[in-house]
Amino acid sequence: MPGGAPDAYLRVQPIFEAIAARVNNEPCVTYLGPGSAGHFVKMVHNGIEYALMQVIAESYDLLKRGFGLSENDLGAIYKKWNQGTLASYLLEITADIFYQVDDQSHKPLIDLILDEASQKGTGKWASEEAMDLQVPLPSIDTAVSMRDLSVLKSQREAASKIYSPRVNPQENDFELFQLQLYNALHAAFIICFAQGFAILQAGSIAHQYQLKLEDIARIWRGGCIIRANLLGQILSAFQAKPDLPNLLFDPQLGAHELLADQLDLRQVVAKAAHLGIPAPGLMASLAYFDTYRSAWLPASLIQAQRDYFGAHTYERSDEKGIYHTHWSHDER
Ligand code: 3PG
Repeated sequence: MPGGAPDAYLRVQPIFEAIAARVNNEPCVTYLGPGSAGHFVKMVHNGIEYALMQVIAESYDLLKRGFGLSENDLGAIYKKWNQGTLASYLLEITADIFYQVDDQSHKPLIDLILDEASQKGTGKWASEEAMDLQVPLPSIDTAVSMRDLSVLKSQREAASKIYSPRVNPQENDFELFQLQLYNALHAAFIICFAQGFAILQAGSIAHQYQLKLEDIARIWRGGCIIRANLLGQILSAFQAKPDLPNLLFDPQLGAHELLADQLDLRQVVAKAAHLGIPAPGLMASLAYFDTYRSAWLPASLIQAQRDYFGAHTYERSDEKGIYHTHWSHDER
C-alpha cells in the first residue's frame, strides 16, 4: 500500500510488482497517492481487520459457549464457511487454528491461549482518525474497546463470580442457527468494509490523497490480511460508481445481499443477548445499518436537550435558520 512522491514510486514499481501477490495475474500493489496516503490506507486496512477479527471471534463464542461445539467441529464449520461468499484469509486461518493441537498437552491449542487480545495500536489510530473526521466506524471502535476489555482479565474473573453468567448450551435448532450465523457474519463483513471504505473516502478529501477506492479494493484482494472474496464485489461496486458514498448503496451488496442477510444478523444478535454471550461487534454492525437506513433519528431530542441546558441552538426541519427556545419548566 505505497504512497509518497510519484516519481519515487516509479523507481520502485518494478520491484514492488515483482514481489506482490497476484490475483487474476494482476499485482496487488499500486501507487495510492501523495504524502502519507499509503500509510493511511494501511491504517484503515488494519481497522477493518480488527472489526472482522472481532465478529469472527464472536461467532466462535456463540458456537462454543452457545452450542457447545468442540474444536474439531469448529474447524469443520469455518472450513466449510470458507468455501462460500465469506471466503477470506481470516476465515481460512480460523479453521486452521481450531485444528491445531498443542505439542505438550495434546489438547487443542486454542484452549490454552490466554484470552487477552493485544494490539500495536493501528485499529485505535483508525478510530481516532474517524472521530476527528466525524466518520462513524462503530464496528472498528467496538473491536478496539473489546480488545481493551479482554485485558481486564482479573476484573472479568471477579465480576463473573458476582454475576455468574449462566450460558446453557442450546440443543435445538443448531442447523438453523448455523445458517443464520453464516448470513449474520456475511452481513457484518459487508458493514465493516462499508465503514472502512467510508473513512477512506473522507480521509482522501480531508488530506487530498486522491485515493481511488477501486484501486484499493483491487489490491486488497490478495496478499493482505483482509483479503476476501467480497473484495471482488466491492471492486465491481466502485468500478460501476467510483464516487459511491457508501457501499450500502451498491445495488448488489446492499439492496440485494445485505437486505436479506440483516434479518439473520438480527436473529443472531437477539440470540446472543438472550444467552448473555457478548456480541458487541455484531450488535454495533447491526446498529450502524439500522441507524444508516433511518430517515429520522432521535437526534432531534439531543438537539433540544443541548439547547435547553446550554443554549446551543438548533435548526428546524420546516424552516431555515438557527433557533433558540426559552424552554419552560413543566411543574406537573
Ligand atoms: C497486522 O499485522 O496487521 C498488525 O501487525 C496487527 O496489529 P495488532 O498488533 O494491532 O493486532
